[in-house]
Amino acid sequence: MAKPVYVRSLRKEDLSAIVDVEDRTTGVARRAYWEKRIEISEAIRPHWASLVAEVDNRVVGFVLGRTGELEFGLPGTVAWIEIIGVDPAYRRQGIAAKLIETFISSAEDHGIQTVFTLVNKSDTEMEGFFTRLGFTEGKMIHFQKDLKG
Ligand SMILES: CC(C)(COP(=O)(O)OP(=O)(O)OC[C@H]1O[C@@H](n2cnc3c(N)ncnc32)[C@H](O)[C@@H]1OP(=O)(O)O)[C@@H](O)C(=O)NCCC(=O)NCCS
Repeated sequence: MAKPVYVRSLRKEDLSAIVDVEDRTTGVARRAYWEKRIEISEAIRPHWASLVAEVDNRVVGFVLGRTGELEFGLPGTVAWIEIIGVDPAYRRQGIAAKLIETFISSAEDHGIQTVFTLVNKSDTEMEGFFTRLGFTEGKMIHFQKDLKG
């Protein structure tokens, strides 16, 4: 039977666990980046939009998001899911689904009616995940211009 999953707001002390999940997922550990990112989440972003999931008192997953008001010509407030990650050893146990359900339920509690995220077209894993959770392709067009750098 799957172990209980506890979802709560992100805290400074979660830094190492998050760096670890990223390292085990991508092979890159961006400690300084995450330090700054957690600071921003705590200081200027709604606390409900940055969450971690614990199993056996250990952080095994996270979702970081934000809200945007009247952005891109859209009416009202949109909640953005910016990054989500689950420790590879704990995947396919419903942990990310629980993180997103908690995120959505808090967004609803704050009167938000739309949740946005961006998924790379070649990322079938993410596409499968968000489709399963009821996300559909949106009406905005993603434009980009590549620069010489
Ligand atoms: C995508 C991701 C968040 C899913 O986490 P998870 O906890 O395993 O997801 P869940 O168990 O909640 O999955 C819920 C449903 O989504 C779908 N899903 C999940 N992973 C999937 C995959 N790899 N391929 C297709 N569908 C998938 C399934 O329908 C699943 O339900 P099921 O297991 O009953 O079939 C996880 O695989 C991940 O962290 N990937 C790396 C993401 C990344 O690169 N993040 C940035 C750096 S950390």
